[in-house]
Amino acid sequence: MTTDKYAVFGSPINHSKSPKIHQLFAKQTGQNLEYTAQEVNAESFAKSVTDFFVQGGKGLNCTVPLKELAWQFANEKTNRANSAKAVNTLIKQADGLILGDNTDGVGLVRDLTLNHEIELRGKRILILGAGGATRGIISPLLDEKPECLIVANRTVEKAWELAIEFNHSFSGCGFDDLHEEPFDLILNATSASLSGELPPISQHLLAKNGICYDLAYGNEPTAFVQWGKAQNARQSLDGLGMLVEQAAEAFFLWRGVRPETKAVIELLNSARQN
Ligand code: ATR
Repeated sequence: MTTDKYAVFGSPINHSKSPKIHQLFAKQTGQNLEYTAQEVNAESFAKSVTDFFVQGGKGLNCTVPLKELAWQFANEKTNRANSAKAVNTLIKQADGLILGDNTDGVGLVRDLTLNHEIELRGKRILILGAGGATRGIISPLLDEKPECLIVANRTVEKAWELAIEFNHSFSGCGFDDLHEEPFDLILNATSASLSGELPPISQHLLAKNGICYDLAYGNEPTAFVQWGKAQNARQSLDGLGMLVEQAAEAFFLWRGVRPETKAVIELLNSARQN
């Protein structure tokens, strides 16, 4: 029996949890596959991906800073990849063409709604940040029919441009423009957490019983998760569950089998508490 080859490309990649996650999925579902992590930067991306598929690779995940390049590289793209203008999953199809998809947004929504039982329909949602991470989650969040979706960004023009690109299906503004009713859910999609910083947000933004969610994650609670706890958020969560869910969706696309995520999330959670 041959072992199908998968990998994640990115830079830096040495702390990636994806090989561990996919190995756990493979074991759980009895799939015979290998999943490795390769350090690949923007300059070497096209050659590395081409070589990978020529050598028989079946599917790839692409992470920072390669998601836009992966979107450009794919021969065919799903709607959700096109609305994100970013691809995190490449699939070699039976006809040899490479399909690009983006599983980040659906991973976030599954973590919120299934793992944490958070209702999004009719809720007021605020996204902090207007970069690539935000672009990937807008359409799947709008599909859940919130009462309103607002994107606030430090550079207000970027939030405005994003709103225009999405046909004003949400509003874009600056952090100082948020004077209206508080939000049921605040999502931090800025890269501020990666440097231990907090976007400049007022404490009146979170509704009573509201929820905070940082798309980033770490071994320690991020600055935004700590902010949520200090605001007495009903839940203040980080993006570990989203990471596992986007991986599960990629695994499903590649193998046609949906892995069980709960045990994998619990395992990664307990590993970081030690
Ligand atoms: P990503 O792909 O992770 O979204 P990006 O496209 O570089 O990365 O976008 C980073 C986002 O984080 C931007 O919205 C950025 O705000 P600006 O557009 O004003 O640069 C936001 N960001 C980064 N550091 C921040 C900070 N300390 N406070 C507030 N926003 C921050």
